[in-house]
Amino acid sequence: MNPKMPFTLSLSKRFTCPQTCMGTNPAPTAIANTTTTASAAETLMLTTATPPTTPTVPAQPYTEAERRAVYRAIDERRDMRHFAGGAVAPEVLHRLLRAAHHAPSVGFMQPWRFIRITQSALRQQLHEVVEAERLLTADALGVRREEFMRLKVQGVLDAAELLVVALADGREAHIFGRRTLPRMDLASCACAIQNLWLAARAEGLGMGWVSIFDPAAVAVLVGMPAGAEPIALLCLGPVHGFYEEPMLQQERWAQRAPLGDVVFDDAWGVASSVIGPAQG
Ligand SMILES: Cc1cc2nc3c(=O)[nH]c(=O)nc-3n(C[C@H](O)[C@H](O)[C@H](O)COP(=O)(O)O)c2cc1C
Repeated sequence: MNPKMPFTLSLSKRFTCPQTCMGTNPAPTAIANTTTTASAAETLMLTTATPPTTPTVPAQPYTEAERRAVYRAIDERRDMRHFAGGAVAPEVLHRLLRAAHHAPSVGFMQPWRFIRITQSALRQQLHEVVEAERLLTADALGVRREEFMRLKVQGVLDAAELLVVALADGREAHIFGRRTLPRMDLASCACAIQNLWLAARAEGLGMGWVSIFDPAAVAVLVGMPAGAEPIALLCLGPVHGFYEEPMLQQERWAQRAPLGDVVFDDAWGVASSVIGPAQG
């Protein structure tokens, strides 16, 4: 008997089955209202006999210097709103986009799409969409309105590069990992953006994530198909320097929560023994 077959068949059966036959959890509206079957890619991959995967890359930790570099990029990554103009070399931009595209994604659906804005008139229009929403956000903030208005919340016109990041259309066909958690597409896209963000920091470039915009207006400006959804305007490019700590912390808008407030053992609210009180 071919030892691969039971595995292949059981997955194939599960993932080509209509939504209604899968499990007992109530499915979220986004996916539950359809009888969508697995995407063509999912079906193809799951019905093709693949050899059992054997991990072959040695599980060695990185060298001390390599590990330090990884944690350094994580610690020193900043959301930047002040840019120094200039340009991003094409080979660097290519590396960054490749880093983004190598992010994890639910069911390996790779829902991210990047639209590089090269026309200054289009960039100006996107800036206007952001400015309109900035005022609406300020009004919605009530007592913190003036404080918010003093903050710099975007560098759309100043950054060397502007990228619109969107969730692709046709996502409802991807079910693996999303039947009960359809937002995992957004989580996947955020992973790609974080990869780009960290790689940019390692390249000495700043990046700012702007989400203050009407998604419908951005979608129209860049000609997105129905079902695609913009989630970020990424301002990317040379900066004069990086903020030492999150700018919103420097400006006393918010503070990083103690680690002990967000890590629990076994149940919600139970302090974790890994995080000592002094390490908060
Ligand atoms: C999903 C997401 C959306 C964001 N949108 C905005 C935004 O519209 N404007 C802005 O100034 N910062 C935005 N930020 C940046 C956050 O304000 C920033 O990450 C936070 O203040 C912590 O600072 P740090 O990234 O430098 O650590 C966004 C960040 C994330 C993860």
